[in-house]
Amino acid sequence: MKRVLSGIQPSGVLTLGNYIGAIQNFVKLQHDHQCFFMVVDLHAVTVPQEPEALREQSRTVAELYLAAGIDPNKASVYLQSTVPEHAELGWLLTTLTYMGELERMTQFKDKSAGKESVGAGLFTYPSLMAADILLYNTDLVPVGDDQKQHLELTRDLAQRFNSRFGNTFTVPEPYIQEVGARIMSLDDASKKMSKSNPNAGSFITLLDPPDVIRKKISRAVTDSGREVRFDPKEKPEVSNLLSIYSHCSGLSVKEIEAKYEGQGYGPFKKDLAEQVVGVLEPLQQRFREIRESDMIFDVLKKGAAEASEVAAPILRQVKERMGFVQP
Ligand code: TYM
Repeated sequence: MKRVLSGIQPSGVLTLGNYIGAIQNFVKLQHDHQCFFMVVDLHAVTVPQEPEALREQSRTVAELYLAAGIDPNKASVYLQSTVPEHAELGWLLTTLTYMGELERMTQFKDKSAGKESVGAGLFTYPSLMAADILLYNTDLVPVGDDQKQHLELTRDLAQRFNSRFGNTFTVPEPYIQEVGARIMSLDDASKKMSKSNPNAGSFITLLDPPDVIRKKISRAVTDSGREVRFDPKEKPEVSNLLSIYSHCSGLSVKEIEAKYEGQGYGPFKKDLAEQVVGVLEPLQQRFREIRESDMIFDVLKKGAAEASEVAAPILRQVKERMGFVQP
């Protein structure tokens, strides 16, 4: 069975972008792959986090995984910080990573732009992400489009290690879907939907109440035409809404275009809001039940134990190959 691994940062409430770009694929892949889905709390602290907020958000992300349909009996769900092998391999891979490679990372450039002081952890973030993936000899990494560059570096590091120390790591493949890998902001389709956008109307969170979702979608920017057509170049806003519609309804973009032919944006946006509410309302209900049951702590403990079982022997082999004495 092929191995799948991915992670999401607990640095705020998750958005519809995280759901469509990542979590929906996690749910799909769990049925016929060995899956590891993490809450990457060590990555979250590469920018300042309030301890109380980090605790709450880490728990929330894990609970949202389950509420979205990840079955902890099929996939291992855990916190990155509870499997110390991640930090250890992260350090070892940092020593193999070139400064120039890290300087080229667009996520680093975006996150550090205009900041007076930038933590060193933000810079070495991609080496830790490579460690997350390589530690399990992962075959497939389901992510959104914005993680492509990190995945390329991970592949380079795997190959670099293998050619220097002997064949050790599987070189992982990204799993990025064609439509939905980049859900854009509702107020500006040239930017990706992100929880760090100061305009809360630009993103939908998985925990937004139905009325807030309806309002955000009705206010989403569209061009001045009226044709519901998928054309990311000419009609980026409508194309983005079409991607969201397709992912929430299961209909293809072609089917949706045909459904709204000659009807304009009004009915399309109204139905879109109901499609999104139709997905998120039951998810929120399951989230509340999971929260009340306090089951997440057992799930996270079990997930960490399963992860360690795979990770520990691989790290041992890495250290052996690099020449560390292991008494
Ligand atoms: P993060 O926490 O920024 O995002 C989590 C996942 O959501 C995807 N995503 C999107 N997809 C489509 N449209 C959007 N607007 C959108 N916004 C976010 C991201 O591509 C990602 O898949 N570095 C990673 C976390 C990470 C990781 C890993 C991922 C750490 N270790 C190992 C995979 C494997 C990150 O910052 O994701």
